[in-house]
Amino acid sequence: MAQHQEQHTIDVLLEETRKYPPPPAFVQQANVKDPAIYEEANRDPEQFWARAAEELHWFKRWDKVLEWQAPSAQWFVGGKLNVAYNCLDRHLATARKNKAALIFEGEPGDERVLTYQDLHREVCRFANGLKQLGVGKGDRVNLYMPMIPELVIAMLACARIGAPHSVVFGGFSADALRDRINDAQAKVLVTADGGWRRGGITQLKRAADEALRQCPTIEKCVVVKRTGHLGNDALQPGRDVWWHELVQSQPLECPAEPMEAEDVLYLLYTSGSTGKPKGTVHTTGGYLVGVYATTKWIFDLKEEDTFWCTADIGWVTGHSYVAYGPLANGATSLMYEGTPDYPQRDRWWAIVEKYRVNILYTAPTAIRSFMRWGEEYPMRHDMSSLRLLGTVGEPINPEAWVWYHKAIGGGRCPVVDTWWQTETGHILISPLPGITELKPGSATFAFPGIDADVVDDQGRSVPPGSGGYLVLRRPWPGMLRTIYGDPQRYVNQYWSRFPGVYFTGDGAKRDEEGYIWLLGRVDDVIKVSGHRLSTMEIESALVDHPSVAEAAAIGKGHQVKGEAVVAFVTLKEHIQSSPLLEENLKQHVVHKIGAIARPDDILFTAELPKTRSGKIMRRLLRDIAEGRVLGDTTTLADPGVVQSLKQRYGEEAEA
Ligand code: PRX
Repeated sequence: MAQHQEQHTIDVLLEETRKYPPPPAFVQQANVKDPAIYEEANRDPEQFWARAAEELHWFKRWDKVLEWQAPSAQWFVGGKLNVAYNCLDRHLATARKNKAALIFEGEPGDERVLTYQDLHREVCRFANGLKQLGVGKGDRVNLYMPMIPELVIAMLACARIGAPHSVVFGGFSADALRDRINDAQAKVLVTADGGWRRGGITQLKRAADEALRQCPTIEKCVVVKRTGHLGNDALQPGRDVWWHELVQSQPLECPAEPMEAEDVLYLLYTSGSTGKPKGTVHTTGGYLVGVYATTKWIFDLKEEDTFWCTADIGWVTGHSYVAYGPLANGATSLMYEGTPDYPQRDRWWAIVEKYRVNILYTAPTAIRSFMRWGEEYPMRHDMSSLRLLGTVGEPINPEAWVWYHKAIGGGRCPVVDTWWQTETGHILISPLPGITELKPGSATFAFPGIDADVVDDQGRSVPPGSGGYLVLRRPWPGMLRTIYGDPQRYVNQYWSRFPGVYFTGDGAKRDEEGYIWLLGRVDDVIKVSGHRLSTMEIESALVDHPSVAEAAAIGKGHQVKGEAVVAFVTLKEHIQSSPLLEENLKQHVVHKIGAIARPDDILFTAELPKTRSGKIMRRLLRDIAEGRVLGDTTTLADPGVVQSLKQRYGEEAEA
């Protein structure tokens, strides 16, 4: 991040002095209200996590809580358990047997409620179906699906038989899906004919077919009939099978495979600072303990709650807080298929009212959209059931935080701003709502047992009131264990900048009272509407186009999306720029990655600003896009390039 931008963010945040102590009525009923939890956990973090682990079901108890040889962590060594067993079977002998595990609302308004027993049965049937297709322990299964119960069923079925799943967000393109399937070398793909989105159909099967033309490891493809717009002729004989036909004659029971605590539970691809997405590897025991404990304490989860995490399961937030965290706790988790503005801009609030949602967990970008649409939409509904709100995915500006607290939470609900990453598996920095005095815009403090620090270039803790890099000094149970197929990248990316310490890639500041304020990424990762993208991925997509010689992509501040993609493009000789070409290039990025990566702006330029050694100076491009005073240009090979770009960008922005 450019230094003056960082300074500006710090200054704005420093002006934020409002504080929100936990409301007494909330404290009274809170799961955790004794601040001693922090001290206890810090004294003996392993013991702290072990106590949480004891609340789960183990086929065999662990011999050792943690085996740590930086950067390799093993948690609950020697323990055996099954995630699906913990999310399902464990509850069946209790009053939760007939409790709603999943409440689903489709975009067209259809509803489905699956009790724990229902979910158990469906998971067993699908697990048996997967076995019939030849899936065994250790085989990877790719899931490319809409937000429907079958996605959770498929994940749990994989977990049940010990087949790691790799979910690819349904908004990714065929090319992106293909690359992720091939990297994981998956054996089976589970998809759907389509999903409902803003009244239309997302063509998942069509994209899957395109991807599978170049996925030699895929043997079978299971297709859920969701939209019903495809007939049997859409199935490729020998390869494709309808979900409903696969499960119809399967036995209702399927034994849960006792897994080693360190066996892989799932892969999840995320963008890093190169063009190639990385498959984060999450394992069984530590991950489950981490999501279980954080769900229970941060969301103050109660038996009777309806918990709604609005994230798509294609992202880690959906893995941990739509599926595994709530289900491990025996909670009721709500899933909604569609967009917030269909058929009208009050859809979410209608859902909150209809199901009496108690806990709502969403992203700042959504909150900023609602804020722009106006309070009239939430005001149409009775949202008095809400008692806790959460945010995740990007820094939340204090204005949006305060609006969320008031307009959605009626001023009575604590807001937990939770910081974590695909890599961390579960929340690591967050308030505990019965204890923490909140400051809008701050994720407040590290979760008990987590050692977060803000350090300078040399890895030294910065004094209170200053900024630096956010690092984690101790391993935690849900952390990624490696990058699939690329252990060296794991070491280089996270553990080399400061040896033995996990580097998050985020800038942060700690204030005089020890509160942590996140300032955004310091690398080439950008967050567009909370979705993680790498500038290099977008650049590779652009240079893949036959007209493009060179490209540089950056994230530019955006009022609703947080960041928007802006690309600077140099065309090949004799190619003329035109509005049509600009549109084609945007479309090309959508085709290569998905609609989330579509650049807002493309600026054609004869040259890109480079150092004398040929490195593109993205920092200066960001200054240009943001309309700021240019930072240090002394290392540029040709300072004239940025001056002319700056002038042109300014002119185009005005036009
Ligand atoms: O920059 C941080 C930002 O999101 C990044 C992780 O992105 P992803 O792996 O997609 O996971 C998002 C959901 C867990 C982080 O490096 N981020 C996440 N939560 C916050 C945040 N930035 C500020 N405040 C947060 N609460």
